[in-house]
Order: sequence, then structure tokens, then C-alpha cells
Amino acid sequence: MSLDAAAASARPGAKRLLAPLAPDVRARLEAYPELLRKVLPLRPGLVRELPKVVRELSLSLTAEREGGPRPGYLSDPKVLSAYLWYYLPWNLVRLSRLLPGLDLDIPDGGVVRDLGSGPLTFIQALWLSRPDLRKRRLRITCVDRSKRALELGLALFGELAGFDPTHPDAPWRIRVARGEYWQGLTDGADLVAMVNVANELAGKVREPLDERMERVAAQLSESLVPGGRVLVVEPGTRLGWRCLLGMRQAFVEMDMDIAAPCPHREECVLLAGRTRAWCHFTMPPAGAPRWLTAFSEQAGLGKERLSLSFLLARKARPAPMAGGVRVVSGAFSLADVPGSAVYGCSAAGLLVLCAPDRHPPAPGDLLAVDVPAGAPLDPKSGAPRVMLAPDPSGERPAESGGAARGEHAQARKPASGQDRRSGSAQGGAGSREERGGKRRPRPGGAPGASGPAGASGPSRQAPAGKPSRPASKGRSSGPGKPGRPSRSHRD
Ligand SMILES: C[S@@+](CC[C@H](N)C(=O)[O-])C[C@H]1O[C@@H](n2cnc3c(N)ncnc32)[C@H](O)[C@@H]1O
Repeated sequence: MSLDAAAASARPGAKRLLAPLAPDVRARLEAYPELLRKVLPLRPGLVRELPKVVRELSLSLTAEREGGPRPGYLSDPKVLSAYLWYYLPWNLVRLSRLLPGLDLDIPDGGVVRDLGSGPLTFIQALWLSRPDLRKRRLRITCVDRSKRALELGLALFGELAGFDPTHPDAPWRIRVARGEYWQGLTDGADLVAMVNVANELAGKVREPLDERMERVAAQLSESLVPGGRVLVVEPGTRLGWRCLLGMRQAFVEMDMDIAAPCPHREECVLLAGRTRAWCHFTMPPAGAPRWLTAFSEQAGLGKERLSLSFLLARKARPAPMAGGVRVVSGAFSLADVPGSAVYGCSAAGLLVLCAPDRHPPAPGDLLAVDVPAGAPLDPKSGAPRVMLAPDPSGERPAESGGAARGEHAQARKPASGQDRRSGSAQGGAGSREERGGKRRPRPGGAPGASGPAGASGPSRQAPAGKPSRPASKGRSSGPGKPGRPSRSHRD
């Protein structure tokens, strides 16, 4: 049985949100350093320094800061190199697992805008993970404050796709524009994407976050054609979720269709609940390129899991909601029930789905669940507890991190100013939510053979398809072995 949760099938009747990385996507990401080296050759000094620069960038982005990163931070050549070798590829991994499961049926001749595109991360991921769209003629505009990030992104896309995206006859014709995100908002868009940007717009502005996000949502919506879509993706942090909440509220008020991930249009059940949990979807880093895993560990930023939050809305009459229950957390243990549990979002409110067989559904799964009248209430969250029937496949979705038997659920202590602090990760990678705890960076300069140092560096690669080494003991939610379940906190 595969230990890669992504490969494990969903329970009967359940729909999986996060797809496994397709083999050709894995192969292309494994070979991605060749592209990076081609478009941005690094001088040897910077190759040696890169793990440190990545670490500093991560620290500056995840520090308990007020006001977000300084404007134009990606224009600093060192910072941009660090982004390209760490954040960009992790975001490609994350997005390439999300996008195949989304309804993104952009028409032939369709217009796409990527706002705050950085090095065209979203467009690269769309090309990688949605081969069904490659033959469509798309007109794409990418806008960002950093001109250099746009130029490098354009070059990377050209290498990836094998054609010049600026050529008038290119199937995907891409125009890049340096500027503020709203300058990319001309009418007639079939898809507007904003990926790992909203939390930066939350920045220094005094305006309350919800109002700010409602304003951004209105701007995005205005630029859509009827039937057009807006996709906002954030790192799976509390701040990212708070940003999405404000936008969701605005889209509901504009009578737009909320396509995913919410199975209903009511107020977010995690807002109404007594828990501090927030809506986000985690996945193990299994399947990530080996060079990236090795390089991240070398930078002291090895990952236990990847995480994201997102919202897909459509400028269309709200479709009848499919109903069902969306799994909106990783697995946690309950003090008084064997096995593990996850939070579920439904029109009826928050649910605690208990899997006594320790095979909880995976984050993002959409399930049909009957809530029995008089279901016992979970003392912590106040939500009804529903016992799931045993999973007949017997496969344990490692991405939900089955919680250890008998482990008592621990609420994470809210820090003061929690919203800003727990959600300060940028770029969708390296957030506290994702990091594998404190790791000492590996000594020595060059990372693995295919990392920034190229073939001359000492290789520390793991066997194909596996992370280079297990995450820190007892806290892994990666592809754990059956019988050695990993712990997970309950928020
Ligand atoms: C964390 S990066 C995300 C880049 C890319 N979307 C990705 O997911 O990898 C945030 C990007 O948003 C850009 N950005 C932030 N505020 C912006 C604004 N007001 N207008 C345009 N771009 C902005 C930054 O320059 C940066 O490239």
C-alpha cells in the first residue's frame, strides 16, 4: 500500500480535493534546477550563501511583524534568488496538487490575470498541472511590483512550456506589467488569480482587515466577465484565512457563486465555533523534488507538511450547493474517543468527524455524512461528534496525520495578537504551520547534486519519491508508517 496519502483513495462516496502530483509534474519539478540555473546563473559566492539568505528571508517574512514585508522586497537580487530556489518551487508543488481538482474551465481565447504574480508562479503551476488547458489560446497578464521577478518568471515559463510566451502566435500569450495589482484589473477577465498576495495587502493599512479585503474582492469581481472566476490562494495561516473570509463575505453579498471549498453559503462555521482552528488544507511533502527537500533541510527549513487556504468564486448565479461535509483540518486526537478526528464544515455547522479506526478522511475531502439527532457534543468546540464507519479501504491518509492513540488533544495556546502573529507567513512556504520544527541547518555550502550548486555539490538525496529524512521525531504528519502515527495539534 502506498504511504503517500495523496495516492490513497478517498473513502467511498468522498471526493478528494488535493490530487497527487502527476508523474510528469514530478519529473519536471525534479529537473527544475536546470531551468533556474539557465535563467538565473548564480555566482559561486551566492550559491554558498543561498541557504542563509533563504533562512533570513523566511525569518523576515514569518517574524512577528506588523505591516508585512517592505514593498518591492522581491526586487532585491539576493532575495529574489532565494525566492526562486525555495518559495517558488514549494508553491509549484502546492498549487500543482490543488489546481487539478478545481473547476477552472477557462474558454478558448480566455483572458487570465495573475495579480502579484511574482515569478509567474501561478501561471507556471497552471501549465504544469492542467494539461487540459494547454491547447486553449489564453491571453494572460501578470502584474507585480517587481519587474525582475516578472522577467525571470517569463523566462522560466518559456523554458517550461517550450515556446516564447511573448510571441503573438503563442498558445498562451503572456504580457507582464510592473505595477500595483489593481493596475492589472481591466475588464473582461475569465480568471483572476491572486496567490500568496492578499496577506501582504493586509499590511500597514489602518482599515480593518475585513473591509480591506471586501474592497479587494469588489475590485476583482468587477473585472470579471459573467461566468468568470476569481481564485485566491493563501498560505495556510490564520491571517491568510482571515483575508479569505473578508473576500468570501463580499462575494456572497455580491451574489456570486462560491465554488470551493465551502459546501455552503452561510457564515464560516469556524468563525461561529468555539475553536481557534482555521480553514486550511495540509498535505505531506511526499513527492516533492528531492533537491528541494535537501536544499530546504540544508537551510534549516525542512518541512513536515505543506499547507494552503483558498477560495474559488464565480460571477454567476449561485449554483445549488452540493452539500456534504468538507474536511477543514488535519487529524487530531480526542482524550475520550479512540482513534483520531478531523473538523468538518457543513451547512449545519461545524462537525467533529471521529474515525475510531484511525483512518480519518484527508484534509479537503468532501464527504456525505449523516448527523444523527442527539449526536454528542464535543466539549472543546461545541460541535456535534459524528462517528464515521470504518474505512473499508483500510488506507490511512498520511496527509491528515492520524493522531496517536490516547494522546490528549492540546489546544495551542493563543498568543496575544494571534491573528497577526500566527498568520504572518508569506509566499506560501516556510510558515510555522509547515515547518518541521527547529532544525539545525546542515553545515557546508553546497546543497544536493541538483540544488543551486549543480552537479558539483555533495549529494544527500533520499531514494526516489521519499523525503530525504523523516521529520523531527514524534511530530511528523508526513508519510508516516502504519502503526507509528504522527501527532497533530488541535486548534
Ligand atoms: C509572496 S509573493 C507571491 C508571488 C507569487 N504569486 C507566488 O505565489 O509565488 C507576493 C508578491 O506580491 C507582490 N505584491 C505585493 N503587494 C503588491 C501590490 N500592491 N501590487 C502588486 N504586487 C504586489 C510582491 O511584489 C510579491 O511578488
